Amino acid sequence: MDDARELSRRTALALGGTGALGSALILAGCAPGSDSGGGGDDSGTGTDAGDGATPTDAAGEDVAALADIPVGGAISATIGGEPVLLSQPTAGEVVAFSAICTHQGCTVAPEGAALICPCHGSTFDPATGDVEQGPALEPLPSVPVSVDGDRVIAG
Ligand code: FES
Repeated sequence: MDDARELSRRTALALGGTGALGSALILAGCAPGSDSGGGGDDSGTGTDAGDGATPTDAAGEDVAALADIPVGGAISATIGGEPVLLSQPTAGEVVAFSAICTHQGCTVAPEGAALICPCHGSTFDPATGDVEQGPALEPLPSVPVSVDGDRVIAG
């Protein structure tokens, strides 16, 4: 009986010792980990570069024929695989906007001389992308395009 008690006490002491040692190892292990986390923050800053509405690799993409865009109206198109709206406010002048509604992300479509979101009815100015009627609060982001002869080119 006494031997059994003595064994239990030794086991408990041994376990306690291991526990203390284990804690020390865990604490020691934390320090290098937190140092490497700082390095991770540095690499994260590189993700800010691509926040434009148009993928930069889409520059030069042939988007549409100028003749397909009604003067005073707009058409749907894509640039870099993203939906856009091309408007021709005056003859020969083309502007483009992301077609992703700034309210909740539905795809805005041209309807006559207006740009209308089918989900909740926001309307946008086809010449500026500004909100004409909510619930959207922010304008459609502008997308750079240019006219080259009879074609509309991204960028
Ligand atoms: Fe366009 Fe709500 S998602 S109005």
